[in-house]
Amino acid sequence: MFKRFRRVRANQAIRELVEETRVDIKDFIYPLFIKEGQGIKKEIASMPGIFQMNIDDALNECKELTELGIDKILLFGIPDVKDSVGSGALCEHGIIAEAIRKIKETYPNIYIITDLCFCEYTDHGHCGILDLECNSVDNDATLEITARQAIIHAEAGADMIAPSGMMDGMVETIRSALDSEGFINLPIMSYSTKFASAYYGPFRDAAESAPSFGDRKSYQMNPANRCEAIAESLEDEAQGADILMVKPALAYLDIVRDIREATYLPLCIYNVSGEYSMLKLAASAGVIDYDKILMETMLSFKRAGADMIISYHAKEVARLLQKRKSL
Ligand code: PBG
Ligand code: ZN
Repeated sequence: MFKRFRRVRANQAIRELVEETRVDIKDFIYPLFIKEGQGIKKEIASMPGIFQMNIDDALNECKELTELGIDKILLFGIPDVKDSVGSGALCEHGIIAEAIRKIKETYPNIYIITDLCFCEYTDHGHCGILDLECNSVDNDATLEITARQAIIHAEAGADMIAPSGMMDGMVETIRSALDSEGFINLPIMSYSTKFASAYYGPFRDAAESAPSFGDRKSYQMNPANRCEAIAESLEDEAQGADILMVKPALAYLDIVRDIREATYLPLCIYNVSGEYSMLKLAASAGVIDYDKILMETMLSFKRAGADMIISYHAKEVARLLQKRKSL
């Protein structure tokens, strides 16, 4: 028996036939950081290879993505002006609404998902309106503006809305707002199980969204809690989410597996900024075989039970898969 398996593993054809999990470029969603104004494309110091860009640069980026076979993007907006309630996100000419319209004009086949949150738009960097009494966010006041932001994205032509603020009731609120405006077919991908994680560090440089005081522990999840993690996702399913998500990825693959077994909804995994930067910096220090570790990592996401992967590595994955095909 063992001998036969060893022979099987050595034979490429059988190896392919019995391979249980595969990484396909169609599984990937690529995040873009779009900055208001005409500023030049700026590399994020803590995320080598990832840039803040204006809308014109984003269009060039879409060209490159299309050529690589990546046709799904996740948009983050960085406004010029921030205030206490994140007004930049509530205007139909805001950065994300404009970006959606321009991208759709040139690349109608690119599937646009919008991250829906306020931390990039508030001067205090929290994910919603503040409740000064508890020194954190006012959940229900934030729900109201969340619904408005969703409608703005929908009207601009977004294909899917991805609320990431972890407010209680956000999926239900967005669903009913979208439905009442006629967007009954617009899906919601909820950041349903999002941990309060230090792995988001580099993202906060990228999106200029670090909280100016405190942390996000009152609305993001405790990394120690497994049952709560599953319950949070199931709660969003009950509220009408179409796709669930676990974030971050690497340190939470057990949770991905648990949720995979608790629901029949599609499941997304977010391979976050800190995970990206760790691999990048290990590669530049010359201590890992980057390409191999990258693909092994992506495979682990699929094997854990994720159907789709949001990753800053998507372009590199595309190139590696193409190279593999031509061998
Ligand atoms: C905003 C948001 C964050 C990320 C995605 N959407 C940061 C946060 O919650 O602090 C993190 C993504 C990453 O680290 O790559 N709510
Ligand atoms: Zn946020």
